[in-house]
Amino acid sequence: MQKRKFVIDPGSKFLSVYGDALMYRQPNVAVIRRGRTTEVLAYGDEALAMKTLPDHAVLVRPVSQGVVRQPDVLAAVLRKIFEKLIPVTMFKAVELYVPVPSGLGMVERENVEKAVAGGGYRDVTLIESVMSFLPRTDGGDTMVADFGGGVTDMGVINSEGIVTACTVDIAGDAVDEKIRNVLLQNKNFKIDASAAERVKLAIGSLYTVDTSSVSVIGQDILDLRNKNFEITATQIAPAIHFCYSRIMDILETLMMSLPKPKQDEVRMNGLYIAGGGAAMNGLTDYLQRGLHIPVYMDKDPETAILRYTARLISEPKYASVLKLTGK
Ligand SMILES: Nc1ncnc2c1ncn2[C@@H]1O[C@H](COP(=O)(O)OP(=O)(O)OP(=O)(O)O)[C@@H](O)[C@H]1O
Ligand SMILES: [Mg+2]
Repeated sequence: MQKRKFVIDPGSKFLSVYGDALMYRQPNVAVIRRGRTTEVLAYGDEALAMKTLPDHAVLVRPVSQGVVRQPDVLAAVLRKIFEKLIPVTMFKAVELYVPVPSGLGMVERENVEKAVAGGGYRDVTLIESVMSFLPRTDGGDTMVADFGGGVTDMGVINSEGIVTACTVDIAGDAVDEKIRNVLLQNKNFKIDASAAERVKLAIGSLYTVDTSSVSVIGQDILDLRNKNFEITATQIAPAIHFCYSRIMDILETLMMSLPKPKQDEVRMNGLYIAGGGAAMNGLTDYLQRGLHIPVYMDKDPETAILRYTARLISEPKYASVLKLTGK
């Protein structure tokens, strides 16, 4: 029986499955009903599209800030996805590889393994997402950063493994939250998290001169009326700079913690960035100016970690790295 390898990414925002190509990528949410077992009534886009929920049902996000909070839900959703994607005849010949933040603790790692194995295939290997960048680099000391929705995972890697790494919960969700705070404090204007996300995607920018604007519905907290407000890029710029500058500070600190020869090599090899949050307008220039090293962004940052991991597990030259991560 032929072995098939799949990459499963249970992200804080998106759940993805990648084989030879992207097979599934939808928001990591589910409408569930809990009884003796966890019953999944809908998941992904379909769950989000539900206007009203059936009796006793709740909408949950099984993963937040990079941590699997509800392994039973993730397992139940994966079971449904695998039923559709993986023909039954392939049973037992399936290997699953899961990119995870490097900062997870033992219990959190076990929860990921348990949840993914609960989907029906027991051969599960976790790979730190910073290590997934290896096929993108030339194997020398290189800085990498995965800007996710719940966490940003960053570090320095080489062909032997992780030199140093760090996971922080300053990521897409934190940017949205900061945008809400800034608008509330400076404009007395209250918007919900999904409106903040829309504003960020429409006009978020790290360029200092950006004149774009977008209109959004929210509440004027002075008269408690719902209104349509025009938000400008300049108004939300402090929120975006606040979050991304902190990430840059951590990258700088990681670099300074290295011995001088390694620092020099990282400066030469540069920083590779991916993950949805890497698509922030102006990020490459911003990091390049702040860190004084070359910065390379993947052309499709949202699916980059999946593609890199798929290469890492299929090319024989990376077999020793997989051994390091426990395979
Ligand atoms: N153009 C963009 N500008 C800024 N942020 C963006 C852009 N496009 C997507 N994002 C953000 O990327 C995040 C999703 O990225 P990604 O799919 O890598 O996260 P994830 O893997 O689900 O989460 P995590 O890795 O933290 O568990 C969201 O927070 C989204 O707001
Ligand atoms: Mg991710």
